[in-house]
Amino acid sequence: MAVRKDTIFEQFLAPIFSNFLMDREALLRYRNSKDWEVEGDRFRQPDLAYPAYYSSQHFHGIEQGYLCADAAVTYDPVTKYVLPPNEEWIRQGLIDRIRCQPRRILDLGCGTGSTTLLLKKAFPQAEVIGLDLSPYMLVVADEKAKKAGLAIEFRQGNAEQTGFPDASFDLVTASLLFHETPPEVSCTILQECFRLLQAGGEVLILDGNQSSLRWADWLTEIFEEPYIKAYAAGSVDAWMGAAGFGDVRTEEVWLLNQVTRGVKPIPYQSVQFEPPEMNQTIEQEWAMG
Ligand SMILES: C[S@@+](CC[C@H](N)C(=O)[O-])C[C@H]1O[C@@H](n2cnc3c(N)ncnc32)[C@H](O)[C@@H]1O
Repeated sequence: MAVRKDTIFEQFLAPIFSNFLMDREALLRYRNSKDWEVEGDRFRQPDLAYPAYYSSQHFHGIEQGYLCADAAVTYDPVTKYVLPPNEEWIRQGLIDRIRCQPRRILDLGCGTGSTTLLLKKAFPQAEVIGLDLSPYMLVVADEKAKKAGLAIEFRQGNAEQTGFPDASFDLVTASLLFHETPPEVSCTILQECFRLLQAGGEVLILDGNQSSLRWADWLTEIFEEPYIKAYAAGSVDAWMGAAGFGDVRTEEVWLLNQVTRGVKPIPYQSVQFEPPEMNQTIEQEWAMG
């Protein structure tokens, strides 16, 4: 697996993950079970340009970051250990805070689709789309959905500029995306969420708890998370308000994570109350005198 040699991850954590926590042989068998380039071609959009913040980083100490098969192969086995006390409970924290009955859902930065699958299970009648920049992550997501018998559409695209029409969704979500994007990109993504939602639609962002992450500088180094420090210093709550959302609220989820929810306001229309017919009747009555 193409893990970089010069990181703390390589020196300390990779051996633990690969030899003790993960079944290395099983992972290698899975990686060798398919041609990832051919499978990835099912999702690749020829006109897509990868943003510099994304293609320049070796996220999690993996060479080429998300733009290689190793990222997709190792993502689920590692993630279950970095979301204590239980990955599914934390993802469920987002599902539990959805208040609408959505008909069309977009999951941004869907990765291997773990939250996307939960969304489809929670709202089986809804059309669910998962969007991600990495074709390799989408290969895994699509495979998981098919295995679970869930009809979900997975597409390659940039959450900053998705290309979907205005007001075409009533729920937009992102889980574990914002700690991997510079704050200005997160703000652009929230503006895109605002554009994509119908009035009254909801946005929900699940990620690390910004207050508790502020002391955890070492995470940046150990897990090679290039933007997590800037993420922790910011406020998803404030970014969401700045994008135009109302009713914004952040709640802690199992101490180390948070869900921020906002609603696209329904435009206020001032109604002029004029009872002309009544006036007419009174005037007519007076005239008739
Ligand atoms: C930490 S993973 C989270 C995956 C998944 N949402 C989850 O909860 O496990 C971050 C994902 O965001 C994707 N990503 C990063 N920037 C993106 C962007 N601008 N547009 C779409 N996907 C993006 C990455 O490719 C990666 O799959």
